[in-house]
Amino acid sequence: MSTVKLPGLIDVHVHLREPGATHKEDWDSGTAAALAGGFTLVLAMPNTQPPITSKAALEEVLQLASQKARCDYAQYVGAGAENVGDLAALAPRAAGLKMYLDQTYGPLRLDDMRHWMSHFEKWPQNRPIVAHAEGRTLAAIILMAELFKRHVHLAHVSKAEEILLIRKAKEKGVPITCEVCPHHLFLTREDARAIGERRSEVRPPLNSLEDQQCLWENLDVIDCFATDHAPHTLSEKDSATPPPGFPGLETILPLLLTAVHQGKLSLDDVVTRLYRRPKEIFDLPDQKDTWIEIDVDQEWMIQARELYSRCAWTPFEGRRVIGRVQRVVLRGNTAYESGRVLAWPGYGQSIREIGIS
Ligand code: NCD
Ligand code: ZN
Ligand code: ZN
Repeated sequence: MSTVKLPGLIDVHVHLREPGATHKEDWDSGTAAALAGGFTLVLAMPNTQPPITSKAALEEVLQLASQKARCDYAQYVGAGAENVGDLAALAPRAAGLKMYLDQTYGPLRLDDMRHWMSHFEKWPQNRPIVAHAEGRTLAAIILMAELFKRHVHLAHVSKAEEILLIRKAKEKGVPITCEVCPHHLFLTREDARAIGERRSEVRPPLNSLEDQQCLWENLDVIDCFATDHAPHTLSEKDSATPPPGFPGLETILPLLLTAVHQGKLSLDDVVTRLYRRPKEIFDLPDQKDTWIEIDVDQEWMIQARELYSRCAWTPFEGRRVIGRVQRVVLRGNTAYESGRVLAWPGYGQSIREIGIS
């Protein structure tokens, strides 16, 4: 066994489903899954029921999180057509502003570019804007970043044409950063048959091998890895109208460590994209006395029955991986060890609210 110590990992893109869909996940189960995956800080998306688009909704979700979260966290607010004037006041307490610009799970979608512009004008510069924008929508939001000279973080980039456009825009100095998800790095459309067509539904969809290779070839353009942990139950996934999304918190690190073993990237590349860049881009605080311990040589098989996520399945079922989280220490206390989550619900801190009462 060879143990390697890394910083507590940061996932800037998770869906914890509470309020509204706690049969899929809640702040307790989702943050337990985070710790089991090596994450000590998660940023939660606002497409809950109700969506987090108002002061009342933000206060409700922060209250739930303060009682139930086992790891540290912050909560995004969602950009809507009606809430442009209200959000700036919430920015100090928010992870960032999320803009859904293409159809995906949940009701938050902004079609009219006048709304995009209004949010760009009002949302404070010191808090990130994150955009779900695919294909040509991505080109449109990159234009907006350039016109407003305003940083935008691009969620779950998945296609060759997208990563190459981002490279060009970065070369021209457009203030953008981006993330890529494990399922776009480690699965393609070819895997959909084995996983099941309905279960394979995810936004953006699984792509071609060529797209996947292009992501790997342009690793230097990828700022962050993010799971887009999007749990739905198997009965929902197997229904005639499967909701899009995969769980990912507990499988991303072993998948990446396996890729390190294969020489596809270095351990430092992983730490840069799961800790350093997320911390810089999202202006996240130090977590004192916080680290994770990994056995980089342990071989094991991913099995849904061992996972903490309430959704109880994974698209990586049966995959053999090398590298496993042994222990997670969060603010001086062992929060996870040898398969057991030890941090209690409520131990997690709201990182944007430290010092705000
Ligand atoms: C996400 C979800 O289920 O909340 N689904 C997904 O397929 N990625 C929504 C999203 O991130 O677009
Ligand atoms: Zn999305
Ligand atoms: Zn998402």
